[in-house]
Amino acid sequence: SSVAETVEAAPAGEFPIPANVFAETVTSVTHYTDRLFAFRMTRPQSFRFRSGEFVMIGLPNAEKPVFRAYSIASPAWDEELEFFSIKVPGGPLTEHLQKIKEGDTVLMRKKPTGTLVHDALKPGKRLFLFSTGTGIAPFASVIRDPETYEKFDQVVLTQTCRLDAELSYGRELVAHMHSDEMMQEVMAGKDLKFHATATREGETKGERITTLIENGKLFTDLGIAPLDPANDRAMICGSMAMLKDTEALLQAKGFEEGANNSPGTYVVERAFVD
Ligand code: A2P
Repeated sequence: SSVAETVEAAPAGEFPIPANVFAETVTSVTHYTDRLFAFRMTRPQSFRFRSGEFVMIGLPNAEKPVFRAYSIASPAWDEELEFFSIKVPGGPLTEHLQKIKEGDTVLMRKKPTGTLVHDALKPGKRLFLFSTGTGIAPFASVIRDPETYEKFDQVVLTQTCRLDAELSYGRELVAHMHSDEMMQEVMAGKDLKFHATATREGETKGERITTLIENGKLFTDLGIAPLDPANDRAMICGSMAMLKDTEALLQAKGFEEGANNSPGTYVVERAFVD
């Protein structure tokens, strides 16, 4: 059969690339902690996506590779693709993905999708991006997109992680936004604020984003007005528990969930783990 021929054609110990997926080359890998790493890879010329969307990622290490949803962390204009990943011990994909090196092949399904996109939000003045852990990935894309600063006067990115070291990816990214000349042009004189807390250690222990919204510390820390559905829009990305609790808070303030076909005042995406 033609399947047997394809298998024979693959070099020893390797598997044929499945039909209808891109096979891309890793260009860099950065490990942040024993649980977190980021990697960049080549971008297919024909591949288009909206900042904030996710794709299915896999490795060519089996006849039928395991694919998992990964938010694209790079902006739509970037010539490469960037991803920020957790390492799950024994996780069917991340157990292997965490070992990738420059030059390795990563598989990507062809269709991006997602709700953390400008199309799903009504126009507003301030954009709040609430994340926990690797939930910051889609926002790494959104805060590097010029459309974000065309549509909003102020962008407020928040991230909570258990440990301080887990906040490094976001901290470095935001520092780059403020120091890099090209990023300054992307931001077009608009304001980007970052509020990061470690919830299991140090001075910010216990400061979940939900707590910080409820007690108002998020707004006093940043010197900004409290949430107001008339002018504010929000995107949320984190664990199921965080999504549920943050959504409940926003809904109580009068925010309404949006979708691609019916824009609202907030949108949600689950963080993707093994
Ligand atoms: P905490 O340390 O208080 O549990 P996790 O690794 O469990 O997904 O947690 C990542 C981050 O999300 C941590 O800062 C954690 O805070 C926070 N978090 C977990 N559950 C919730 C929730 N229901 N609401 C808000 N933040 C949460």
